[in-house]
Amino acid sequence: MPTDDERRTGLSRTLYEEFRARIVDGTFPAGTPLPSTRALAAERGLSRATVSLVYEQLAADGFIESRTGAASRVAVGATQATPSGRSKRARTKLPAPDRLAGSLSPIGQHIASLKLADPSPTAPGEIDFVYGPLSGSDFPTLTWMKALRAVERQRSRRLEYEDPRGNMELRRALQAHLSQARGLACSVEQLMIVSGSQQALDLCARLLVEPGGGVVVENPGYRMAHHAFEAYGAKLLCADVDAYGLVTEQLAALGPAQLAYVTPTHQFPMGSFLPIARRHQLLEWAAERHAWVIEDDYDSEYRYAVRPEATLQSLDNRGCVIHVGTFSKTLSPQMRLGYMVLPPALVEIFAGGKRVTDRHAATGVQRALARLLEDGSYDRHVRRIRRLQQVRQRALLDALTRHMGDEVEVQGAASGLHLVVWFRALPATAERALVDAARQQAVRVHPISPLFHPSKTAQLLKRSAGLVMGYALLEADIIEDGVRRLAKALLQVRQQTG
Ligand SMILES: Cc1ncc(COP(=O)(O)O)c(C=O)c1O
Repeated sequence: MPTDDERRTGLSRTLYEEFRARIVDGTFPAGTPLPSTRALAAERGLSRATVSLVYEQLAADGFIESRTGAASRVAVGATQATPSGRSKRARTKLPAPDRLAGSLSPIGQHIASLKLADPSPTAPGEIDFVYGPLSGSDFPTLTWMKALRAVERQRSRRLEYEDPRGNMELRRALQAHLSQARGLACSVEQLMIVSGSQQALDLCARLLVEPGGGVVVENPGYRMAHHAFEAYGAKLLCADVDAYGLVTEQLAALGPAQLAYVTPTHQFPMGSFLPIARRHQLLEWAAERHAWVIEDDYDSEYRYAVRPEATLQSLDNRGCVIHVGTFSKTLSPQMRLGYMVLPPALVEIFAGGKRVTDRHAATGVQRALARLLEDGSYDRHVRRIRRLQQVRQRALLDALTRHMGDEVEVQGAASGLHLVVWFRALPATAERALVDAARQQAVRVHPISPLFHPSKTAQLLKRSAGLVMGYALLEADIIEDGVRRLAKALLQVRQQTG
């Protein structure tokens, strides 16, 4: 039961909100006299004290003007005006981005032009071979809850801002983990916790690239990285990708560059591992130009047959590699936790960049993650989900062979959470038809073409149709069913295209 005080507070809040809403939406225009406190109290069955309190609050917030001896009136400017003079708060729409153009910064204009949209959600009954999301049932819920509870029990007495590079417990635990799992040697000073790899890329773009500056990217590649650089006015220099990853022979001819972004352990999306000779070539190219290299190590935990090879960062003796990792592929993309291993020369400027962006990552989740790393439960979890993902990948490979055999060629099975599947007899221009035909069979598949830079459409004409098929969300029997339906869709498209 609420106490009298609570009841009064509740009633006065309701009355306050009602009057404020009516003033803001123009029902009570400027100058409208309000009923006397006595009349309103009688009308609503409230005490005069409650109504007076509400009027005092409305006056303090600038919605009404009270004068002794006269009725309180709605203040001028408190109503949200529209061009027609009438206020329609509820109907106010956000202006379309192109209408905003004149009032946006160059970065805002670029982001508006990308027209980035969330994909439509998977409909019930649809089998979605999407790459990116993880299955909620793979998340180590109990371990995570235990860690969060333990952390909350030990909340520190002083709730103050932390080091922008992140919580020290997590950075120490991560340093030990990276040394053991990736053979990566760094000091805790070099480690910075970020809000997913995307923030690492955003900081690199802002802090290292001048407007118009060249950034080498893989093509096809991770478009979210491309967008981060282009948003700040970078000029993308697209290098081809072959069966061994980035074609480093092309680097010299690409023109001046300040930065290169690469996925050397598992090229996204093609899945290749960058051989040692190309790694050396890339580092030499960077050293000659004083360029930085971002090594995006987004899914090295899923190397199935052999341990992941040494990082590019560990070959770098000139301090030009920025190593970036994420927990989006092992725990959850919703966690928004990633990390950077910075060359010593960049530590201070990146700490400053992070501080002015969002001060630092949320402390509670960082400390909980530190516990998982320290007590071995993170490693156990990774071993468990690696086995699960391998079973799913095997199911996908088997189903593709069973239902489509030689009609498809598969790339990138050595690691990761997706495969690239090429349809030998279909031209790239038939990708959309394949996607649509699959949708009619209640299967969602995702074409590879959007991962090529739009300026390189000529490449489209030379290759077959391809799909990026993720399997992390699906169990083996669903994968089998989905591929069987995809084979039907393929048959239909082949018949249509002759
Ligand atoms: C190449 C690549 N890098 C990084 C990420 C992870 O990004 P984030 O850490 O921002 O979730 C992904 C996710 O799909 C990816 O494909």
